[in-house]
Amino acid sequence: MTISTTVDRVPAALRAWLSKPRPMLIDGKWVQAKSGKVFEVQDPATEMLLAKVAEGDAADIDAAVKAARRALEGPWGRMSPSARGRIIHKIGDLILENLDELAQLESLDNGKPFGVARVADVPLSADMFHYMSGWATKIEGKYIPLSTLAASGQFMSYTRPEPVGVVGQIIPWNFPLLMAAWKLAPALATGCTVVLKVAEETPLSALRLGELLLEAGLPDGVVNIVPGFGETAGAALASHPDVDKIAFTGSTEVGKLIVQAASRDLRKVSLELGGKSPNIILGDADIDEAIDGATAGIFFNHGQCCNAGSRLFVQEKIFDKVAAGIAANAEKIRLGVGMDPETQMGPLVSQVQHGRVSGYLKSGLEEGARALTGGAPLNMPGYFVKPTVLVDTHPDMKVVREEIFGPVLVATPFKEADDRLIAAANDTVYGLAAGVWSRDLAQAHRIAHQIKAGTVWINCFHVFDSALPFGGYKQSGWGREMGQAVLSNYLETKAVTTRLA
Ligand code: NAI
Ligand code: MG
Repeated sequence: MTISTTVDRVPAALRAWLSKPRPMLIDGKWVQAKSGKVFEVQDPATEMLLAKVAEGDAADIDAAVKAARRALEGPWGRMSPSARGRIIHKIGDLILENLDELAQLESLDNGKPFGVARVADVPLSADMFHYMSGWATKIEGKYIPLSTLAASGQFMSYTRPEPVGVVGQIIPWNFPLLMAAWKLAPALATGCTVVLKVAEETPLSALRLGELLLEAGLPDGVVNIVPGFGETAGAALASHPDVDKIAFTGSTEVGKLIVQAASRDLRKVSLELGGKSPNIILGDADIDEAIDGATAGIFFNHGQCCNAGSRLFVQEKIFDKVAAGIAANAEKIRLGVGMDPETQMGPLVSQVQHGRVSGYLKSGLEEGARALTGGAPLNMPGYFVKPTVLVDTHPDMKVVREEIFGPVLVATPFKEADDRLIAAANDTVYGLAAGVWSRDLAQAHRIAHQIKAGTVWINCFHVFDSALPFGGYKQSGWGREMGQAVLSNYLETKAVTTRLA
């Protein structure tokens, strides 16, 4: 088996781990697929083979769902919230103890710079478990005073939050470990059990996380991790009759398929989908800060962020300066393999994604947009695309309307911060995030309140915290991730009423 050259930069232990076909986690055991099939995982920076991974399909999903059901009805369901919380906290500790190795895996598998994975993806994943561990003991019901039935005080009622049950979770490849953490930690805090279907492009860090889950003392079957393809393993999970709830992150297109699959049995669904987020720079903003913020807003993670600030609106009088400033920043970004410490931007995750983003660049230029910088893929091995700033765009262009999920910014001038600006910012089927840059905070807040999006950043961008709810309006999704808000995704509310007299 050929191991890619970038793997040479990682320690021998990790090389050895990668050189064996990686099994899936079902019922606390590491097993190969029932079919015996494996699929190849590629290093997107070199297009070389990185590892082979067990390819789960409907039969493996079924075994995983059965294990999750047994675990729910077994020791996990009976464990005290405090004991559950301690295990969740320990998972966070173990992630930090394995910080470098997890960051290396993330960089090799996804293409992102090692240094970024080390300061962002991995610590944020650990924090999600640490934060959620505290919720395990704080999921409380309420005493509810009655008016209609109990005028005479004959009845007493309270609510009891209960885990929704066996949860199917399907995650994408842009933040492989972090998306696993966002999904697993709240499900465990609420007492659910899980079958996690990881993305076929990037299964490795979640499989390593699976080893840490067992090390932390998670009972068998509480979390089952099945790598495999969307159309097979993913679809089997979304339509499995014994799954109580599906939590999905990925494309809006597949989100709609998940809803269809779940609607047959009216399974509960939460969705975190695409975005085309407006980033608005007002004429009174600190221009240098806004230029750097808008640069990071679109180019962080190579634009492969559902919340990327991909539609830039700049007040006319500063438009040329801001657009030129972002283009100059883009030209300074060092592209390369993620494991090279000099690298600031890696490749896109896959050939498919490279084709998709290149197609958008072509379509934008054909429809009349002008590239201030970039505008094309790089002609070298690996799925690299030049960071791109497009101007002279029109609201009907595909590059303005559709999520590109690559390092491509479309920039448009506006005259005044009036209703026309708000209408233009909200002129999208999505509603995930937005940015506003201004020294006039009252005006910035007014705009923030009018934007139809689940997150608005004022004079900043990409600020995430385990305590902050994140999710979308409109076609960006249903429900919220993180914070106290995510708990309701994984809970049922039972009202219990007792006759007192
Ligand atoms: P995708 O939505 O196809 O994949 C996400 C996950 O869904 C993966 O685990 C995949 O295996 C699974 N999946 C695919 N088809 C499925 C099906 N029929 N049933 C159940 N699960 C299924 O996204 P993809 O193809 O990787 O990227 C396409 C576009 O989606 C991107 O260009 C981007 O615009 C958007 N996207 C948005 C993300 C977000 O964070 N909101 C993450 C990844 C992609
Ligand atoms: Mg897909």
